[in-house]
Amino acid sequence: MKHSFGSDNHSGVAPEILEAIIDANNGFDIAYGEDQATKSLKELFKTLLGSNAEAYPVFNGTGANIVALKAMTQPFNAILCPATAHINVDECGAPERLTGCKLISLEHKDGKVSVETVKKELKEFGVQHHSQVKVLSISQPTELGTLYTPDEISELATLMHSFGCYLHIDGSRISNAAAALKLPVKEFTADCGVDALSFGGTKNGLLIGEVVVLFREELNTNFMFIRKQAAQLFSKCRFISVQFQAFLKNELNIRLAAHSNAMAKYLEHSLTMVPEVEISRPVETNVVFARISKELCAALQKLHYFYIWDESTMEVRWMCSFNTTREDIDRFVYDIKKLLTKQL
Ligand SMILES: Cc1ncc(COP(=O)(O)O)c(C=O)c1O
Repeated sequence: MKHSFGSDNHSGVAPEILEAIIDANNGFDIAYGEDQATKSLKELFKTLLGSNAEAYPVFNGTGANIVALKAMTQPFNAILCPATAHINVDECGAPERLTGCKLISLEHKDGKVSVETVKKELKEFGVQHHSQVKVLSISQPTELGTLYTPDEISELATLMHSFGCYLHIDGSRISNAAAALKLPVKEFTADCGVDALSFGGTKNGLLIGEVVVLFREELNTNFMFIRKQAAQLFSKCRFISVQFQAFLKNELNIRLAAHSNAMAKYLEHSLTMVPEVEISRPVETNVVFARISKELCAALQKLHYFYIWDESTMEVRWMCSFNTTREDIDRFVYDIKKLLTKQL
């Protein structure tokens, strides 16, 4: 496939990341995260996110979310999240199964929950018949590509803390958020009172690997065991760690993410004069949502790979990657225009 708008998971690996893997492929080192690269990575995350940030490499985004949530909960707890959350929709019930917690999905606006909505669920504490809310999990950016401001995150964290609860961020595309907000990740996570963060890599050009960051000492107590039991401890962990070192070096992560964000903006801009394409969500990171006719969709899917997000409203999702080019987008928009004039 030459290009896909289906997902940033459809892209390959950034050359700098592959090089880092090859460079690491000599000699021997200790396994299971006791290696030199992982030790250095842990220090690097402290520099990036503050001295209380404890970083733990894991395999994938689903695993990162599960072990982070498990560190914060007991099976009698409930986890709040917007209805669109990946943990709610796309993880096959794994968060419920592996944490034992009830997931309570909340109303949202373009993927974001408000303080008012969350407040309504903060109830029944101490009542033995009810699951005890312990965590709010939000995604930054959201699954709809939108962003919380640092103030909004701070407000949500303060609210959760006032009830003795935690705030988790699913940051599977956290670098896209940092690039779009033009802020260091620390300023909209640690500095806002976030307790745990799933820091993504794969969707921004890594071959494999994410990092769970825990900001509270008590969450670390059993984390090693939680990660191992959840099958998220990689023996040759150094090969994840060297990817993250290369990713964070000279802000490669921000450059890769800024490019995919810019491509989504370019796509949005290129479609402004096409009334048959209705942009349906604010374009704030690397994804464009749009409503198009069934006929256009069917014809376009014969030429380009992308997903229908909601069949009932004919909303489609076009996602850009670190290696999407302007030519990919020009070709896509050209094909849309041609199809609309029935010339293809
Ligand atoms: C917001 C979000 N969180 C988590 C994940 C899970 O990542 P993985 O597929 O690596 O388990 C995804 C994957 O698409 C995602 O979009």
